[in-house]
Amino acid sequence: MPSQNLRIPGPTPLPDAVREAGRLQMINHRGPEFQELLVRASAGMRPWFGTQSDVLILTSSGSGGLESAVVSFLSPGDPVLAVSIGNFGERFAKIADIYGADVTLLEVEWGQAADPDSVRESIRAMAGEGRSPRAVLLTFNETSTGVTNPIAQLAGTIRDAAPETLILVDGVSGIGAMPFQMDAWDIDVVVSGSQKAWMIPPGLAMAAASERAWAAAATATMPRFYFDLARHRDVLPKGQTPWTPAVGLVFQLEAALALMEAEGMEAIFARHQACGAASRAGLQALGFELFADQVYASDSVTSAHVPVGVEWSSVSKELQARGLVLAGGQGKLKGKVFRIGHLGHVGVDDIVRAIEVLEEGATSAGVTVTRGVAAEAARRAGAERAAAALADAAARV
Ligand SMILES: Cc1ncc(COP(=O)(O)O)c(C=O)c1O
Repeated sequence: MPSQNLRIPGPTPLPDAVREAGRLQMINHRGPEFQELLVRASAGMRPWFGTQSDVLILTSSGSGGLESAVVSFLSPGDPVLAVSIGNFGERFAKIADIYGADVTLLEVEWGQAADPDSVRESIRAMAGEGRSPRAVLLTFNETSTGVTNPIAQLAGTIRDAAPETLILVDGVSGIGAMPFQMDAWDIDVVVSGSQKAWMIPPGLAMAAASERAWAAAATATMPRFYFDLARHRDVLPKGQTPWTPAVGLVFQLEAALALMEAEGMEAIFARHQACGAASRAGLQALGFELFADQVYASDSVTSAHVPVGVEWSSVSKELQARGLVLAGGQGKLKGKVFRIGHLGHVGVDDIVRAIEVLEEGATSAGVTVTRGVAAEAARRAGAERAAAALADAAARV
C-alpha cells in the first residue's frame, strides 16, 4: 500500500509498536497467557473511561458495542429518550427502536451540541405522559458533525430530572482522546471502538457499565446473545470472553495502552486539543467555513462546509493523488461537509502537512483558497493550544 496521510476519524494510523504487535503468533484464547493479557488490557482502559468498573472487550465494531448497551440493560416497551446531534445519534436511536424500545427522539440541529435545558424539558414531557425514560441515549463526540457534547452537564441534568434513569453514552470517537469521567459524572454505560483513539485496527468494541446498569440487566428482557454484556462481565475475572476473541487485536491493544501510558493522559489530551486548534485555524486560513458550533468543536474531528458549487469528490481525488485522505460528509451532510480526523496516532505536524496538501489539491480542483498562510496559521494555533493545555494541566496538579 502507498504511504498516506490518513486523516479520517477512524480507522486511524497505527504506531510502529502496534503494527509489530499485529505480527505476533496466535496463542490459546483459553490459556493462561491470554487470560493475563485480557485482564491487563481491560484494567488499562479504566482510567480513560474514568471508571473503576470493568471495561469489557467485545469482538465487534463500535456499532455492536452500541447494540450491546441497548440489549443488555433494556426491555421492549421501555421509554427511551434518544438525544441525537448527528448521524451516530440517529444510529443509537435506531438500534433502540429496532429492539422495541419506545423511543422519543430529541433531534438537535446538526452542528450544534445538545442543550441541557431541552433535555430536561423532554424528560419532563415524557414523564407527563406517564413515560418517564428508562434510559437516555447520548453521544459524547458526534463524528459526523465534529461536535463534542457537554456530557458532564447533560448527565447532571438528566440525573437531577430523572434520578433512576440509565444514561447510556456512545463514546466511540471520544474516549481516549478527550477527558471523560464515567464514575464522577454518574454515567451508566459507555461504549468505545478500537479504530479511534486507541490506535489499533477496527474490530474491538469496549463497554463499561455501572452498578445501576447491572441491576437493570438482571430484569432486562430484550433478546440478546452475542451482545449480552452480562456474559462478558461474568467471565472477565477468569480472563476470558464468552466467544472466541480477536486475539491479535488484544495484543495490539496492549501495545497501544503501553504507548498511551508512557505519553500520559494530560499530554495526550493536550495533543488532541492542539490538533483540533491547528485543524480549525488551518481550514479557516484557507477560507473554509467551519461547520460545528465552535463552542463545542471537537478535538478529535473537525468539519467544514464544502463551498457552494464544489464537488467534494473532485477535491478528494486531488488530495488522494497527493497521499492525503480526508473524510466526506455522512448522512444528510454527504457532499456538504468534509472532515479532518485527528485522533489517536496524530500530531500537529500531520495536520500542518494535511493543510498544505489541501491548499494544493483544492487549488488544482478549481477551488479558490487563500494561499501561503494556512500552514503557518495551523502550526501556530497548534503550538499555542498545546502550551495552554499543558499549563492548565500543570496548574491543576
Ligand atoms: C460516534 C460514533 N458512534 C458509533 C460509530 C460506529 O462505529 P463502527 O463504525 O465501528 O461500527 C462511530 C464510527 O465512526 C462513531 O464515530
